[in-house]
Amino acid sequence: MGSWTLCDIPWERFDPARVDPEIVRVVKAASLVEYNGAAYAHHLCRVFADDTAFQSSLRHWGEEEVQHGAALARWATLADPGFDFAAAFARFQAGFHIDFDSGRSRRGSRAGEMVARCIVETGTSSYYTAMAEAVDEPVLKAICHHIAADELRHYKLFYTHMRRYLVIDHLTKWRRIRLALGRLREAGDDELAYAYYAANETDRPYQRRRYARLYARGAMRVYRWHHVERAIAMVFKAAGLKPHGRLNLWLARGAWWVVRQRVARLDRQPA
Ligand SMILES: [Fe+2]
Ligand SMILES: [Fe+2]
Repeated sequence: MGSWTLCDIPWERFDPARVDPEIVRVVKAASLVEYNGAAYAHHLCRVFADDTAFQSSLRHWGEEEVQHGAALARWATLADPGFDFAAAFARFQAGFHIDFDSGRSRRGSRAGEMVARCIVETGTSSYYTAMAEAVDEPVLKAICHHIAADELRHYKLFYTHMRRYLVIDHLTKWRRIRLALGRLREAGDDELAYAYYAANETDRPYQRRRYARLYARGAMRVYRWHHVERAIAMVFKAAGLKPHGRLNLWLARGAWWVVRQRVARLDRQPA
């Protein structure tokens, strides 16, 4: 297990008066995605079947992701005692399918798989850092601080192995950039929208656009400029570009403008 456990969380400091119901809904969704980390670890162990040393790091990584899910689920149950995590996770697994048993990387190469994992960890590291700064509830704040530190370590883990596999797989810089952009685009795919649905809805049928919008409305407003700037620098580094150049600054400004516009638009839309 990682550098912390659920015993390190100050659960006794939970303050229901500081709970934001919209944050509870996105935390429930995040708990399902994180708890599914074991399935991703299983898939990556298949992809890196002949790299036993890395497999051991991957299993450790998967355990940490599962712990993130367990901590968030426990907090969500404190905030909403009616939340049935086991039932929600079963709904999520039943409705969200990826072939986790496949030993073939969806990115075309193992170096490409590492580029994609760096992008995912950029997203989670930025999200939990932003969440830790945005929320008032002390227990959730502590959980997010722990998770954010883990996610940054995960980025470093995958970045280290990406560099090793770049040499083995001869991945060009252009291909690396395309893979990073492709994985960024997937941020809008079904996983988070379906997790939001499985965690919060039991009566209606799934509508991707509706639940993607509801998830984004709860999640995007925690970001501030410095989170976006750092995330773009991490994406640039994973893609093999200079992380602190002029292009990075322009893109970060553009991304921050998009985030603000999107938050304003989501706030104007009915629930
Ligand atoms: Fe995580
Ligand atoms: Fe992670």
